[in-house]
Amino acid sequence: MTEKRVRWGLLSTARINERLIPALRETERAELVGVASRSQSKADEYARARNIPRAYGSYEAMLADPDIDAVYISLPNGFHEEWAVKTADAGKHVLCEKPLALTVDEVNSMMQAARRNNVVIQEAAMYRFDPQTAKVQELIDSGAIGQIRTIQSFFGFTLKNAGDVRLDPAIGGGSLWDLGSYQVSFSRLALKANPLEVSAWQTTIEQGVDLTFCGQMRFAVGAVSQFVCSFQSVPHWEMDFIGTTGRINLDIPWKQRGEPSNVRLYQEGTSGTSAFGDNATGLVDTFTFEGGKAYHHQVDAMAASILDGATPVVSVDESRGNIATLVALYTSARENRVVKVADV
Ligand SMILES: NC(=O)c1ccc[n+]([C@@H]2O[C@H](COP(=O)([O-])OP(=O)(O)OC[C@H]3O[C@@H](n4cnc5c(N)ncnc54)[C@H](OP(=O)(O)O)[C@@H]3O)[C@@H](O)[C@H]2O)c1
Repeated sequence: MTEKRVRWGLLSTARINERLIPALRETERAELVGVASRSQSKADEYARARNIPRAYGSYEAMLADPDIDAVYISLPNGFHEEWAVKTADAGKHVLCEKPLALTVDEVNSMMQAARRNNVVIQEAAMYRFDPQTAKVQELIDSGAIGQIRTIQSFFGFTLKNAGDVRLDPAIGGGSLWDLGSYQVSFSRLALKANPLEVSAWQTTIEQGVDLTFCGQMRFAVGAVSQFVCSFQSVPHWEMDFIGTTGRINLDIPWKQRGEPSNVRLYQEGTSGTSAFGDNATGLVDTFTFEGGKAYHHQVDAMAASILDGATPVVSVDESRGNIATLVALYTSARENRVVKVADV
């Protein structure tokens, strides 16, 4: 007997689709059925070039197709809520790109739409689905680095495309929405909480979009997370979880690249105590993970939730906490003050 598959449609011809298409083709319980664009000719050309069976000249036309079970929303951030709600109201499951929305109210509206239509909704924060992330969680939970006191991370690249949606404030442009959302998400995941308060600074262009964003988050357990994200840097990414007895270092924290990634565990030594009472830390283990498969795990996780009723990896509550924190960070940078994170 052939196992049941989820029949997928791509809502837009976005560049990020190129990462999802192989995952939809190479995983067992997915089938790529169609792509929708605001223009029929663009949809036709896109579908022909990628051998996608159906091409729709409007997003509505794809939502009306009874042969589509789940929709991947790869629109600019400012359109996520509108189309996630329409997709859910069409009775289809939703995998929506990150950040899930731009306000907590939008997240709530998406959650209500998913509930009233009994469909799965999940944020496509691909790093959350990769085994590397589960390993980091396992190490932290096992006490491998003691109590986390500091998290530090950098995520940057050079944005060269002048007309990029990331530079348009009207549709959710900005380095914090685009890159910092991962750093905030991983910090909250590691500490299993939303921060109490945040402070932040940003470098903006005329339109008010942040090109570089520096944020700090203070958590109730006595930990702080500091991060910088930027559209103005050489490509670089790194994250450190620093605890009372050890440190975890990630060289590709968000699993956005094709090459293998490493989780390096450093622990305090038992000898060599210095005059200040601190022991030297040394590398005790390196865990290496396959690259380029986060999107495959994401597609498999959607199939598990849709076909088997598995609990989504990224709950709407988790996404809501992320959006509340990102909104607080933007408020802090704009108003130059420490901002409490809304209790959501
Ligand atoms: N998970 C990841 O690894 C990852 C990586 C990159 C981006 N993303 C996320 O994916 C989403 C899309 O990013 P992207 O860089 O791939 O986008 P993009 O290439 O700029 O494409 C966005 C698509 O949205 C549609 N669209 C509808 N209204 C639009 C408007 N007013 N302006 C521009 N496009 C409009 C267009 O498709 P049609 O013309 O066909 O309608 C366009 O092709 C964002 O939410 C981003 O945060 C995720």
